[in-house]
Amino acid sequence: MKNCMVLFVAGIVAAAFAVSRAEDKPKPPPAKPNAFVGAKGCTPCHDAKSKGNQYATWMASKHAAAWRTLATPAAIAIGKEKGIADPQKDNACLKCHVTAFGEPAARLAKSFDPTQGIQCESCHGPGEFHRKERNLNAADFAEDEIIAAPDVKTCERCHNKESPAFKPFCFKGFVEKIRHLDLRKERTKEEVEAMKCDNKCGIEHPK
Ligand code: HEC
Ligand code: HEC
Ligand code: HEC
Ligand code: HEC
Repeated sequence: MKNCMVLFVAGIVAAAFAVSRAEDKPKPPPAKPNAFVGAKGCTPCHDAKSKGNQYATWMASKHAAAWRTLATPAAIAIGKEKGIADPQKDNACLKCHVTAFGEPAARLAKSFDPTQGIQCESCHGPGEFHRKERNLNAADFAEDEIIAAPDVKTCERCHNKESPAFKPFCFKGFVEKIRHLDLRKERTKEEVEAMKCDNKCGIEHPK
Protein backbone atom coordinates (compact mmCIF):
# COMPACT_ATOMS: atom_id res chain seq x y z
CA MET A 1 0.00 0.00 0.00
CA LYS A 2 2.78 2.36 1.02
CA ASN A 3 4.71 1.51 -2.15
CA CYS A 4 1.65 2.21 -4.25
CA MET A 5 1.32 5.63 -2.66
CA VAL A 6 4.95 6.44 -3.38
CA LEU A 7 4.54 5.42 -7.01
CA PHE A 8 1.34 7.41 -7.27
CA VAL A 9 2.98 10.58 -5.92
CA ALA A 10 6.02 10.03 -8.14
CA GLY A 11 3.64 9.74 -11.09
CA ILE A 12 1.97 13.06 -10.30
CA VAL A 13 5.33 14.79 -9.88
CA ALA A 14 6.54 13.38 -13.21
CA ALA A 15 3.33 14.45 -14.98
CA ALA A 16 3.51 17.95 -13.50
CA PHE A 17 7.16 18.18 -14.56
CA ALA A 18 6.27 17.12 -18.10
CA VAL A 19 3.57 19.81 -18.28
CA SER A 20 5.86 22.53 -16.96
CA ARG A 21 8.57 21.43 -19.42
CA ALA A 22 6.08 21.70 -22.27
CA GLU A 23 5.13 25.17 -21.06
CA ASP A 24 8.76 26.26 -20.97
CA LYS A 25 8.89 25.99 -24.74
CA PRO A 26 5.65 27.32 -26.14
CA LYS A 27 5.31 26.67 -29.84
CA PRO A 28 2.67 29.02 -31.20
CA PRO A 29 1.02 27.68 -34.32
CA PRO A 30 2.10 29.62 -37.42
CA ALA A 31 -0.41 32.29 -38.39
CA LYS A 32 -0.43 31.11 -41.99
CA PRO A 33 0.03 27.53 -43.23
CA ASN A 34 3.38 26.70 -44.82
CA ALA A 35 2.95 27.19 -48.57
CA PHE A 36 4.27 25.42 -51.67
CA VAL A 37 6.54 27.80 -53.60
CA GLY A 38 7.48 25.55 -56.55
CA ALA A 39 10.86 24.23 -57.72
CA LYS A 40 12.02 27.59 -59.10
CA GLY A 41 11.72 28.95 -55.56
CA CYS A 42 14.50 26.59 -54.51
CA THR A 43 17.01 27.57 -57.19
CA PRO A 44 18.60 30.61 -55.53
CA CYS A 45 20.20 28.30 -52.98
CA HIS A 46 20.15 24.83 -54.51
CA ASP A 47 21.53 25.29 -58.03
CA ALA A 48 25.25 25.74 -57.35
CA LYS A 49 27.51 23.09 -58.82
CA SER A 50 29.71 23.02 -55.72
CA LYS A 51 26.70 22.11 -53.55
CA GLY A 52 25.43 19.35 -55.86
CA ASN A 53 22.97 21.36 -57.95
CA GLN A 54 19.79 19.62 -56.81
CA TYR A 55 17.77 21.69 -59.27
CA ALA A 56 19.61 20.48 -62.39
CA THR A 57 19.42 16.83 -61.27
CA TRP A 58 15.70 17.17 -60.69
CA MET A 59 15.16 18.97 -64.04
CA ALA A 60 16.81 16.03 -65.82
CA SER A 61 14.57 13.52 -64.02
CA LYS A 62 11.23 12.17 -65.20
CA HIS A 63 9.56 13.89 -62.26
CA ALA A 64 10.06 17.30 -63.87
CA ALA A 65 8.18 16.07 -66.96
CA ALA A 66 5.35 14.32 -65.11
CA TRP A 67 2.66 16.78 -66.15
CA ARG A 68 3.86 16.98 -69.77
CA THR A 69 3.78 13.16 -69.89
CA LEU A 70 0.00 13.38 -69.56
CA ALA A 71 -0.16 14.83 -73.10
CA THR A 72 1.76 11.98 -74.75
CA PRO A 73 0.07 9.38 -76.98
CA ALA A 74 0.63 6.77 -74.23
CA ALA A 75 -1.28 8.93 -71.73
CA ILE A 76 -4.08 9.69 -74.18
CA ALA A 77 -4.45 5.95 -74.82
CA ILE A 78 -4.65 5.17 -71.08
CA GLY A 79 -7.17 7.98 -70.69
CA LYS A 80 -9.30 6.71 -73.55
CA GLU A 81 -9.67 3.31 -71.89
CA LYS A 82 -10.96 5.03 -68.76
CA GLY A 83 -13.23 7.50 -70.55
CA ILE A 84 -10.91 10.41 -69.78
CA ALA A 85 -10.79 13.00 -72.59
CA ASP A 86 -7.78 15.04 -71.40
CA PRO A 87 -5.45 13.48 -68.79
CA GLN A 88 -3.72 16.85 -68.25
CA LYS A 89 -7.01 18.21 -66.91
CA ASP A 90 -8.39 15.18 -65.12
CA ASN A 91 -7.98 14.71 -61.36
CA ALA A 92 -7.75 10.93 -61.82
CA CYS A 93 -4.34 11.53 -63.43
CA LEU A 94 -3.29 14.85 -61.89
CA LYS A 95 -3.36 13.43 -58.38
CA CYS A 96 0.03 11.76 -58.98
CA HIS A 97 1.42 13.85 -61.85
CA VAL A 98 1.54 17.30 -60.19
CA THR A 99 2.74 18.65 -56.83
CA ALA A 100 0.41 19.73 -54.02
CA PHE A 101 -2.62 18.06 -55.60
CA GLY A 102 -5.78 18.78 -53.59
CA GLU A 103 -4.17 21.44 -51.40
CA PRO A 104 -6.31 24.54 -50.72
CA ALA A 105 -5.37 27.69 -52.67
CA ALA A 106 -4.13 29.31 -49.43
CA ARG A 107 -1.24 26.82 -49.40
CA LEU A 108 -0.05 27.69 -52.92
CA ALA A 109 2.29 30.67 -53.30
CA LYS A 110 1.85 32.90 -56.36
CA SER A 111 5.08 31.44 -57.78
CA PHE A 112 3.76 27.86 -57.62
CA ASP A 113 3.34 26.27 -61.06
CA PRO A 114 1.63 22.85 -61.24
CA THR A 115 2.80 22.30 -64.83
CA GLN A 116 6.31 21.72 -63.46
CA GLY A 117 5.22 18.22 -62.43
CA ILE A 118 6.57 16.35 -59.41
CA GLN A 119 8.66 19.08 -57.85
CA CYS A 120 10.92 19.25 -54.80
CA GLU A 121 8.02 19.84 -52.44
CA SER A 122 6.24 16.60 -53.46
CA CYS A 123 8.92 14.85 -51.42
CA HIS A 124 10.33 17.54 -49.10
CA GLY A 125 7.02 19.16 -48.12
CA PRO A 126 6.07 22.83 -48.51
CA GLY A 127 9.19 25.03 -48.56
CA GLU A 128 7.99 28.56 -47.83
CA PHE A 129 9.05 28.63 -44.16
CA HIS A 130 12.39 26.99 -44.96
CA ARG A 131 13.10 29.55 -47.65
CA LYS A 132 12.13 32.47 -45.41
CA GLU A 133 14.21 31.29 -42.47
CA ARG A 134 17.15 30.70 -44.76
CA ASN A 135 16.83 34.16 -46.29
CA LEU A 136 16.91 35.63 -42.80
CA ASN A 137 19.97 33.47 -42.21
CA ALA A 138 18.38 32.13 -39.04
CA ALA A 139 21.05 30.63 -36.81
CA ASP A 140 18.92 27.72 -35.67
CA PHE A 141 17.61 25.29 -38.25
CA ALA A 142 14.18 24.18 -37.00
CA GLU A 143 13.99 20.42 -37.34
CA ASP A 144 10.54 20.46 -38.87
CA GLU A 145 11.39 23.28 -41.26
CA ILE A 146 11.80 20.93 -44.23
CA ILE A 147 11.74 17.13 -44.65
CA ALA A 148 15.45 16.34 -44.97
CA ALA A 149 15.23 12.70 -46.03
CA PRO A 150 11.85 11.65 -47.48
CA ASP A 151 11.03 8.01 -46.69
CA VAL A 152 9.49 5.15 -48.66
CA LYS A 153 5.94 6.18 -47.61
CA THR A 154 6.48 9.49 -49.40
CA CYS A 155 7.12 7.69 -52.68
CA GLU A 156 4.37 5.12 -52.26
CA ARG A 157 1.77 7.86 -52.25
CA CYS A 158 2.21 7.75 -56.05
CA HIS A 159 4.31 4.67 -56.76
CA ASN A 160 1.50 2.23 -56.08
CA LYS A 161 -0.87 -0.05 -57.98
CA GLU A 162 -3.45 2.66 -58.50
CA SER A 163 -1.07 3.98 -61.17
CA PRO A 164 -2.20 2.69 -64.59
CA ALA A 165 1.48 2.52 -65.66
CA PHE A 166 2.67 0.94 -62.40
CA LYS A 167 6.14 -0.56 -62.19
CA PRO A 168 7.13 -2.46 -59.03
CA PHE A 169 8.86 -0.02 -56.69
CA CYS A 170 12.16 -0.53 -54.89
CA PHE A 171 12.91 2.40 -52.57
CA LYS A 172 16.71 2.46 -52.52
CA GLY A 173 17.08 1.52 -56.17
CA PHE A 174 14.66 4.24 -57.27
CA VAL A 175 16.27 6.85 -55.00
CA GLU A 176 19.64 6.05 -56.62
CA LYS A 177 18.11 7.10 -59.92
CA ILE A 178 17.05 10.56 -58.63
CA ARG A 179 19.78 11.16 -56.02
CA HIS A 180 20.98 14.77 -55.59
CA LEU A 181 23.34 14.88 -52.63
CA ASP A 182 24.92 17.99 -51.18
CA LEU A 183 28.56 17.52 -52.18
CA ARG A 184 29.81 19.45 -49.15
CA LYS A 185 28.32 17.06 -46.62
CA GLU A 186 30.85 14.68 -45.14
CA ARG A 187 29.66 11.09 -45.06
CA THR A 188 31.32 8.06 -43.53
CA LYS A 189 31.96 4.96 -45.65
CA GLU A 190 29.20 3.21 -43.68
CA GLU A 191 26.72 5.97 -44.46
CA VAL A 192 27.54 5.78 -48.18
CA GLU A 193 27.23 1.97 -48.11
CA ALA A 194 23.86 2.17 -46.33
CA MET A 195 22.50 4.31 -49.16
CA LYS A 196 23.28 1.71 -51.82
CA CYS A 197 20.56 -0.67 -52.90
CA ASP A 198 21.24 -4.32 -51.98
CA ASN A 199 18.44 -5.22 -54.39
CA LYS A 200 16.96 -7.73 -51.96
CA CYS A 201 13.54 -7.03 -53.46
CA GLY A 202 14.77 -8.31 -56.85
CA ILE A 203 13.01 -5.49 -58.68
CA GLU A 204 14.42 -4.11 -61.89
CA HIS A 205 15.62 -0.54 -61.41
CA PRO A 206 14.88 2.21 -63.90
CA LYS A 207 17.75 2.73 -66.32
C1 HEC B 1 17.43 31.24 -49.22
C2 HEC B 1 18.12 30.03 -49.52
C3 HEC B 1 17.35 28.73 -49.63
C4 HEC B 1 16.22 28.47 -50.40
C5 HEC B 1 15.48 29.43 -51.31
C6 HEC B 1 15.94 27.06 -50.21
N1 HEC B 1 16.85 26.50 -49.37
FE1 HEC B 1 16.98 24.54 -48.83
N2 HEC B 1 18.62 24.92 -47.69
C7 HEC B 1 19.23 26.15 -47.57
C8 HEC B 1 20.42 26.03 -46.71
C9 HEC B 1 21.38 27.15 -46.36
C10 HEC B 1 20.45 24.67 -46.29
C11 HEC B 1 21.49 24.00 -45.39
C12 HEC B 1 22.50 23.33 -46.24
C13 HEC B 1 23.30 24.33 -47.03
O1 HEC B 1 24.06 25.09 -46.43
O2 HEC B 1 23.13 24.38 -48.26
C14 HEC B 1 19.32 24.01 -46.93
C15 HEC B 1 19.03 22.67 -46.79
C16 HEC B 1 18.00 22.01 -47.44
C17 HEC B 1 17.71 20.61 -47.31
C18 HEC B 1 18.50 19.62 -46.47
C19 HEC B 1 18.03 19.73 -45.04
C20 HEC B 1 18.88 18.96 -44.06
O3 HEC B 1 18.52 19.02 -42.86
O4 HEC B 1 19.87 18.34 -44.44
C21 HEC B 1 16.62 20.34 -48.09
C22 HEC B 1 15.93 19.01 -48.26
C23 HEC B 1 16.25 21.59 -48.72
N3 HEC B 1 17.09 22.58 -48.31
C24 HEC B 1 15.20 21.72 -49.61
C25 HEC B 1 14.78 22.92 -50.16
C26 HEC B 1 13.61 23.06 -51.02
C27 HEC B 1 12.71 21.92 -51.44
C28 HEC B 1 13.54 24.37 -51.38
C29 HEC B 1 12.49 25.05 -52.24
C30 HEC B 1 11.11 24.86 -51.82
C31 HEC B 1 14.63 25.07 -50.71
N4 HEC B 1 15.35 24.16 -49.99
C32 HEC B 1 14.88 26.42 -50.81
C33 HEC B 1 18.84 27.31 -48.19
C34 HEC B 1 17.74 27.48 -49.00
C1 HEC C 1 3.41 13.01 -56.09
C2 HEC C 1 3.71 11.78 -56.84
C3 HEC C 1 5.07 11.16 -56.76
C4 HEC C 1 5.87 11.01 -55.65
C5 HEC C 1 5.61 11.46 -54.20
C6 HEC C 1 7.08 10.31 -56.09
N1 HEC C 1 6.99 10.06 -57.43
FE1 HEC C 1 8.42 9.17 -58.57
N2 HEC C 1 7.25 9.42 -60.24
C7 HEC C 1 6.00 9.97 -60.25
C8 HEC C 1 5.51 10.02 -61.62
C9 HEC C 1 4.16 10.54 -62.08
C10 HEC C 1 6.53 9.47 -62.43
C11 HEC C 1 6.51 9.31 -63.96
C12 HEC C 1 6.85 10.63 -64.60
C13 HEC C 1 6.92 10.53 -66.10
O1 HEC C 1 7.34 9.50 -66.65
O2 HEC C 1 6.58 11.55 -66.73
C14 HEC C 1 7.61 9.10 -61.52
C15 HEC C 1 8.81 8.53 -61.95
C16 HEC C 1 9.84 8.15 -61.10
C17 HEC C 1 11.09 7.54 -61.53
C18 HEC C 1 11.45 7.19 -62.96
C19 HEC C 1 10.97 5.82 -63.25
C20 HEC C 1 11.39 5.29 -64.61
O3 HEC C 1 10.79 4.30 -65.03
O4 HEC C 1 12.32 5.83 -65.20
C21 HEC C 1 11.86 7.30 -60.40
C22 HEC C 1 13.23 6.66 -60.35
C23 HEC C 1 11.09 7.78 -59.27
N3 HEC C 1 9.88 8.29 -59.73
C24 HEC C 1 11.49 7.73 -57.95
C25 HEC C 1 10.77 8.23 -56.86
C26 HEC C 1 11.22 8.15 -55.48
C27 HEC C 1 12.49 7.46 -55.01
C28 HEC C 1 10.27 8.79 -54.72
C29 HEC C 1 10.28 9.02 -53.24
C30 HEC C 1 11.50 9.52 -52.61
C31 HEC C 1 9.23 9.26 -55.64
N4 HEC C 1 9.57 8.89 -56.91
C32 HEC C 1 8.11 9.97 -55.25
C33 HEC C 1 5.29 10.43 -59.19
C34 HEC C 1 5.78 10.53 -57.88
C1 HEC D 1 -1.45 6.58 -57.98
C2 HEC D 1 -0.66 7.52 -58.73
C3 HEC D 1 -0.87 7.67 -60.22
C4 HEC D 1 -2.05 7.92 -60.88
C5 HEC D 1 -3.45 8.05 -60.30
C6 HEC D 1 -1.71 8.05 -62.28
N1 HEC D 1 -0.35 7.89 -62.46
FE1 HEC D 1 0.63 7.85 -64.23
N2 HEC D 1 2.38 7.35 -63.28
C7 HEC D 1 2.51 7.25 -61.91
C8 HEC D 1 3.87 6.81 -61.61
C9 HEC D 1 4.45 6.60 -60.21
C10 HEC D 1 4.52 6.64 -62.83
C11 HEC D 1 5.95 6.13 -63.08
C12 HEC D 1 5.91 4.68 -63.47
C13 HEC D 1 6.21 3.82 -62.30
O1 HEC D 1 7.38 3.72 -61.96
O2 HEC D 1 5.24 3.26 -61.69
C14 HEC D 1 3.55 6.99 -63.86
C15 HEC D 1 3.83 6.96 -65.23
C16 HEC D 1 2.91 7.29 -66.21
C17 HEC D 1 3.21 7.29 -67.63
C18 HEC D 1 4.57 6.97 -68.25
C19 HEC D 1 4.67 5.50 -68.50
C20 HEC D 1 6.03 5.11 -69.01
O3 HEC D 1 6.25 3.89 -69.11
O4 HEC D 1 6.87 5.97 -69.30
C21 HEC D 1 2.05 7.63 -68.27
C22 HEC D 1 1.85 7.75 -69.79
C23 HEC D 1 1.04 7.85 -67.25
N3 HEC D 1 1.61 7.64 -66.02
C24 HEC D 1 -0.26 8.22 -67.52
C25 HEC D 1 -1.25 8.34 -66.56
C26 HEC D 1 -2.63 8.67 -66.85
C27 HEC D 1 -3.20 8.93 -68.24
C28 HEC D 1 -3.30 8.70 -65.67
C29 HEC D 1 -4.77 8.96 -65.44
C30 HEC D 1 -5.68 8.08 -66.10
C31 HEC D 1 -2.33 8.39 -64.63
N4 HEC D 1 -1.11 8.20 -65.21
C32 HEC D 1 -2.63 8.31 -63.28
C33 HEC D 1 1.54 7.47 -60.96
C34 HEC D 1 0.20 7.66 -61.22
C1 HEC E 1 10.99 12.28 -55.71
C2 HEC E 1 11.39 12.81 -54.43
C3 HEC E 1 12.33 13.99 -54.39
C4 HEC E 1 12.27 15.13 -55.15
C5 HEC E 1 11.30 15.49 -56.25
C6 HEC E 1 13.35 15.98 -54.68
N1 HEC E 1 14.03 15.37 -53.65
FE1 HEC E 1 15.55 16.16 -52.54
N2 HEC E 1 15.82 14.37 -51.60
C7 HEC E 1 15.02 13.25 -51.77
C8 HEC E 1 15.54 12.16 -50.94
C9 HEC E 1 14.97 10.75 -50.85
C10 HEC E 1 16.68 12.68 -50.27
C11 HEC E 1 17.58 11.97 -49.22
C12 HEC E 1 18.96 11.75 -49.73
C13 HEC E 1 19.15 10.48 -50.53
O1 HEC E 1 18.76 9.39 -50.08
O2 HEC E 1 19.70 10.56 -51.65
C14 HEC E 1 16.81 14.08 -50.69
C15 HEC E 1 17.80 14.95 -50.26
C16 HEC E 1 17.87 16.31 -50.56
C17 HEC E 1 18.83 17.23 -50.01
C18 HEC E 1 19.91 16.89 -48.98
C19 HEC E 1 21.08 16.27 -49.70
C20 HEC E 1 22.10 15.66 -48.77
O3 HEC E 1 23.29 15.56 -49.17
O4 HEC E 1 21.74 15.24 -47.66
C21 HEC E 1 18.58 18.47 -50.56
C22 HEC E 1 19.33 19.76 -50.31
C23 HEC E 1 17.47 18.30 -51.48
N3 HEC E 1 17.07 16.97 -51.45
C24 HEC E 1 16.92 19.33 -52.24
C25 HEC E 1 15.99 19.12 -53.26
C26 HEC E 1 15.57 20.14 -54.19
C27 HEC E 1 16.03 21.59 -54.17
C28 HEC E 1 14.70 19.54 -55.05
C29 HEC E 1 14.02 20.13 -56.27
C30 HEC E 1 14.84 20.88 -57.21
C31 HEC E 1 14.52 18.16 -54.62
N4 HEC E 1 15.33 17.95 -53.54
C32 HEC E 1 13.66 17.23 -55.20
C33 HEC E 1 13.88 13.16 -52.56
C34 HEC E 1 13.45 14.13 -53.46
